Amino acid sequence: MSGPWVEKYRPQKLEDIVGQKQIVTRLEKYVGEQSMPNLMFTGPAGVGKTTTALALVKSILGEYWRQNFLELNASDARGIDTVRDRIKNFCRLKPVGAPFRIIFLDEVDNMTKDAQHALRREMEMYTKTASFILSCNYSSKIIDPIQSRCAIFRFAPLKGEEIKERLQFICENEGFEADDKGLETIVYFAEGDMRKAVNVLQAAASEGETITEESIYEVISKAKPQDIGNMINKALMGDFMGARNILRETMVLQGTSGEDMVTQIYQDVSKRVIDGKMDASIYMDLIEAIAECDFRIREGANPRIQLEALLTQFL
Ligand SMILES: Nc1ncnc2c1ncn2[C@@H]1O[C@H](COP(=O)(O)OP(=O)(O)O)[C@@H](O)[C@H]1O
Ligand SMILES: [Mg+2]
Repeated sequence: MSGPWVEKYRPQKLEDIVGQKQIVTRLEKYVGEQSMPNLMFTGPAGVGKTTTALALVKSILGEYWRQNFLELNASDARGIDTVRDRIKNFCRLKPVGAPFRIIFLDEVDNMTKDAQHALRREMEMYTKTASFILSCNYSSKIIDPIQSRCAIFRFAPLKGEEIKERLQFICENEGFEADDKGLETIVYFAEGDMRKAVNVLQAAASEGETITEESIYEVISKAKPQDIGNMINKALMGDFMGARNILRETMVLQGTSGEDMVTQIYQDVSKRVIDGKMDASIYMDLIEAIAECDFRIREGANPRIQLEALLTQFL
């Protein structure tokens, strides 16, 4: 096995990007016209923002894309001045062998407001020679004058089916067997994040020839939904010691963190009330206790003690 699969299976062409169809169609127009405005890509992690930017750059700049392309991380440890210097130096030069130059600036939402205003001046200064692609998780953290200078593209979390198909494709290519339950488990925990899904798949593949639900749980530290369900059932039936045993086993053997336990308890209980298996009034009492437990753990309280205390609320 050579190198990370997330890189090996990063689509190189716009047409190979999974999902995000409307975005790809809009971008292909720019390629056809050989020109583009400044762009802003927003959306959660692992859904193809960087991949799409690179694929677009290659297809719009053509053969000499490398010479006409600058990739920067806005949260560069060396500070915003370094970022601006590099933009300046890059923009001083004329495009070679391509119609214009492109600067891809990642994680723009980590820039301070002051730095964003400076960036905006940079964007105005070099409109003739360069276009910007800015990438961020939340467009609301970007100042209006930048937003209004960009065509905004909102990337959505990938659909379960899309992720599953991609994982199947990778498995076939790598010669791994994956059963349906295993892939479903990855999809469930990836929550629309393709990077996460591919990383979990590779980790599980390094453990053995076939990918099953079991092999997924070997490599992720989440609790099995069945275990959480059993724990809650026991607590609801008044068997505190039984519930407590499952809690301790999951946290010790599976290595599930306190934060993950609370989140998974929340998911289980929400599902019960949605499926009509729990009264809304009981849910409302529990949710308050879950919220309290969540807060305390995040503030640094001992997770095991907090979770045991939470279980007593189910009795
Ligand atoms: N839409 C997608 N289609 C195919 N692979 C994807 C997609 N989105 C993410 N990936 C996979 O996840 C990796 C990281 O994606 P990236 O584009 O860097 O995500 P981000 O949205 O965080 O910039 C890629 O190298 C690729 O393997
Ligand atoms: Mg990225």
